[in-house]
Amino acid sequence: MRGRFTTTEDDAPFDIRKFGDPVLRTKAAEVDNIDGTLISVVEDMLDTMYAEPGIGLAAPQVGISKRLFVYDIGDGPHAIVNPVVEESDGEWVFEEGCLSVPGLSWDIVRPKEIHLTGYDLDGNEISIEADELLSRCFQHEMDHLEGRLLIDHLEGDTRKAAMRTVREMFLGPQ
Ligand code: NI
Repeated sequence: MRGRFTTTEDDAPFDIRKFGDPVLRTKAAEVDNIDGTLISVVEDMLDTMYAEPGIGLAAPQVGISKRLFVYDIGDGPHAIVNPVVEESDGEWVFEEGCLSVPGLSWDIVRPKEIHLTGYDLDGNEISIEADELLSRCFQHEMDHLEGRLLIDHLEGDTRKAAMRTVREMFLGPQ
């Protein structure tokens, strides 16, 4: 998810995949092992996220089709492996952007609160009750693991107009 924080990081280790890249439309696979390779991927994902800047980044956005995302909504860096949304409740409209669809944002309706479980980088189970921005960030990054993008939440004429804009910006003249 796009963020508003400033950063001192100049070089992103990864290139962020943009709309049109098939990896963004692929359901990501479970992570089998939390090992040194995964931890170094997480560090590079965090550096990439801060360089943009963003508040969340999912592994498929750097071309790695694994169920893993990183985030920082202002309280420091975190990573969640094999996340699952256990429950969701309420409804909240929030203007959302995405590092894979840069320069654009839309009001997106999603549940306001979610209960997310998964694993941290030590392999410990985690369970988080998330509200508002954190909940929104989790849902946005979970979408990436399913091959969904924020525009998939738009409907009717809004969706048609958004798709037209996105195709023109990222796929060129059709
Ligand atoms: Ni995104």
